[in-house]
Amino acid sequence: MSSLTLREHLVERWVTSLRHELLLDRLAVPIVLAPLAGGPSTPELTAAVSNAGGFGFLAAGYLAASALAERLERTRTLAERLERTRTLTDAPIGVNLFIPGTSAPPQAVDAYAARLADDARQAGVELGAARFDDDDWAAKLELLMATPVAVVSFVFGCPEPEVIDRFHDAGSEVWVTVTRPDEARRAVDAGADALVVQGAEAGGHRASFRDDPAADVIGGIGLLSLLQLVRAEADIPLVATGGIATGAAIAAVLAAGAAAAQLGTAFLRCPEAGTAAVYRQALADNAPTAMTRAFTGRLARGIRNRFLDRYSAAAPAAYPELHHLTAPLRQAGRAAGDPGLVNLWAGQTYELGHQLPAGQLVRTLAEEARAALQHAGDRLSPPAGGLGEEVGSAGPAPRSPS
Ligand SMILES: Cc1cc2nc3c(=O)[nH]c(=O)nc-3n(C[C@H](O)[C@H](O)[C@H](O)COP(=O)(O)O)c2cc1C
Repeated sequence: MSSLTLREHLVERWVTSLRHELLLDRLAVPIVLAPLAGGPSTPELTAAVSNAGGFGFLAAGYLAASALAERLERTRTLAERLERTRTLTDAPIGVNLFIPGTSAPPQAVDAYAARLADDARQAGVELGAARFDDDDWAAKLELLMATPVAVVSFVFGCPEPEVIDRFHDAGSEVWVTVTRPDEARRAVDAGADALVVQGAEAGGHRASFRDDPAADVIGGIGLLSLLQLVRAEADIPLVATGGIATGAAIAAVLAAGAAAAQLGTAFLRCPEAGTAAVYRQALADNAPTAMTRAFTGRLARGIRNRFLDRYSAAAPAAYPELHHLTAPLRQAGRAAGDPGLVNLWAGQTYELGHQLPAGQLVRTLAEEARAALQHAGDRLSPPAGGLGEEVGSAGPAPRSPS
């Protein structure tokens, strides 16, 4: 943007947007598989959703660039091998990146580590080194510039306009996840093509640009409220996410103006997902969910369990330090089949999830959504024989005074 004025830059963007049809306009089914970092995301799951006419994301969070390159290659191979029912010209998959944050005060991390010592001893593991890192940010950017995907989405912040421009030059769309109207404004100003609007119902990490414990008292904004608030600020396509588990909920967000629905938890029980056995079991139960920083140092929604209840009040905002610190404990819980130690990320409607192959789930949800929209439309249709009055005349004419 350096040599252009802001106005020239905006005009250039507007012209570019006119030239390109967005991926969301071409989707056969407006259902997006959320990136599911930390185990559940697999090339098989991503390819299955894209092949069913939806759009699959591959999670790049926690992966080194070299591991991401391998998974990308496998996803592309799988997607090409599968019979395609659509006429997309590009490889229709997305990759999701974490925007790096800043390191936390070591004293807060050390104090938290001391509290976990007993649990580590009981589980027979040493706590991990609570280090800060940037999730291999620069190397992943270079990889995705060199081998572009259809969409790169971002969470935990908004990339610089220069980064977004580079992705556009490489042929990728950029989606930014937002949790508040002011974040939406920033993402639009930076040049995002679409916004992933994450409601407070969502499973996994809250996508906020800044994880601020002082804001916890406000709570998050629910999806339907947030869609309306963001629509008032942003005139670009919206992808709704958070607590969507049924076709009726997909219909609801489409009716509220979203171009597609992004589902995370609903796919966790699919056979193609890499969800651990102990996690699958918890998803088949009905314990409540809650927000916590106890596992990773960043606010996230998971099913309440022993670790969450014991440590949520003490956990500081220190991501990714706490993520690394608790990793051996979580791994021990998965290995021993102890759900009390595992981060069981799940949205508020997780109990409605099904154990179906991902392609079948996409098709079933799409059918249900069509039926729900039809039903909703019928509720608004004029009765047989018409309204009997002109639209706009509200009720009987006022009686003239006698
Ligand atoms: C296990 C799990 C992992 C997730 N990982 C990511 C991720 O890597 N990047 C991201 O942007 N969102 C991630 N999310 C959040 C989803 O993008 C989405 O906002 C959320 O799943 C929507 O709520 P739902 O789970 O009720 O469908 C994750 C969610 C879950 C449940």
